Amino acid sequence: MQVKLTDFSPDGRAVGRTSDGKVVFVPGGIPGEVVHITPVKQKKSWMSAKIDAIHEPSSSRISPICNPECGGCSWQHIDYDYQLVSKVGLLLHSLRELNPPVISVSRAAEAAVAWRRRVRWHVFGGRVGNRKGRSHEIEGGVCVQTEPPLQKLQAELTRLVASRGTIKMDVSAVRGAEGIHVVIEGKISNRLLRDISRIQGVAGVQHGEKVLGAKSVTIDDDCQISASNFAQASTAGNRKIREQVTLAASRLAGEEMLELFCGNGNLTRDLAAHAESVIAVDTSPGRHPGDWKVVTADAAAYVESHKIPKVVVLDPPRIGAKEVCSTLADKPWERILYVSCDPMTLARDITLLGAEIEYLSLIDTMPNTPHFESVALLRRRT
Ligand SMILES: C[S@@+](CC[C@H](N)C(=O)[O-])C[C@H]1O[C@@H](n2cnc3c(N)ncnc32)[C@H](O)[C@@H]1O
Repeated sequence: MQVKLTDFSPDGRAVGRTSDGKVVFVPGGIPGEVVHITPVKQKKSWMSAKIDAIHEPSSSRISPICNPECGGCSWQHIDYDYQLVSKVGLLLHSLRELNPPVISVSRAAEAAVAWRRRVRWHVFGGRVGNRKGRSHEIEGGVCVQTEPPLQKLQAELTRLVASRGTIKMDVSAVRGAEGIHVVIEGKISNRLLRDISRIQGVAGVQHGEKVLGAKSVTIDDDCQISASNFAQASTAGNRKIREQVTLAASRLAGEEMLELFCGNGNLTRDLAAHAESVIAVDTSPGRHPGDWKVVTADAAAYVESHKIPKVVVLDPPRIGAKEVCSTLADKPWERILYVSCDPMTLARDITLLGAEIEYLSLIDTMPNTPHFESVALLRRRT
């Protein structure tokens, strides 16, 4: 079946329509291309399909830098400029009903390879790596998106498990100033755990309650992090997000701020440099690098039961902050600074808040993927 691809869906798959009007999602495609496809999954109004042949390729199509089947980077077949333009398109399309203002766009990773400092790999069948797109099979080649120390770790882990095909576990790792911190989930022998802790560049390994070496490492100057905590995927990307947050915080200087979803204080330090005071809330706040007030609580429960200051900062996970924003809609805030990794949930939450966008910025934190961060400064809709 032949289809012309016209758009990207929010998850980065190309989208077209069959001759009978059915929407078709095509991983590996680029808008503008005419492709021959085979359906993989059929529903009443849509289907997903794989490309058999590209009849009219896009001028933005490039050779993928590694295995295009890998589920880690689904946009590696697209040249970087077109990736960035497409991310702007995805953000503006998601916010189209909110009249988004002109946005600032920054390219965050210094290079399109070797930028990722934090990974979660699966181990099975003697392989270590990401799952192939929409499959349980593991792509075991060394990931060129990761920083060189993590590439070495992946190669060493593969060497350790290659002859032990029955080992099944998940490996989270983050590269900090002292080396790599690793967290293992799954069944593992004491011997393998010790061997992993001895890999060159590994600062510490944790498996359940057991810790060999460091419990955490330092990232972004003074944040302590274990591989099971959240951190932005790239150092340069986080720097750009912090620049945008600092810019917004300087506009809101002198106010009390409530920061929800604060993690280990990554943004709190920039807010605290401008705010009168900051209360920072997270279900799992970790060790913060400053002495502002940190509250361990569910964000929705907190806003339900506390007085809300004029300025609120949100940095929720991909699912957004639906309950929090519904509750905040009736509270007397004046400005909200929203850091988001998903433009769809950002649009939903701004609508729930009854807010309009005063300033918007897109930071491309993850090249070769459809993912990016947005920083939006909001005020009440007039
Ligand atoms: C995207 S991270 C942001 C962390 C931090 N702002 C940063 O820049 O590193 C989202 C944070 O939300 C926290 N979180 C997830 N669900 C939560 C909830 N229901 N209430 C409060 N915090 C939550 C997680 O622990 C995580 O630290």
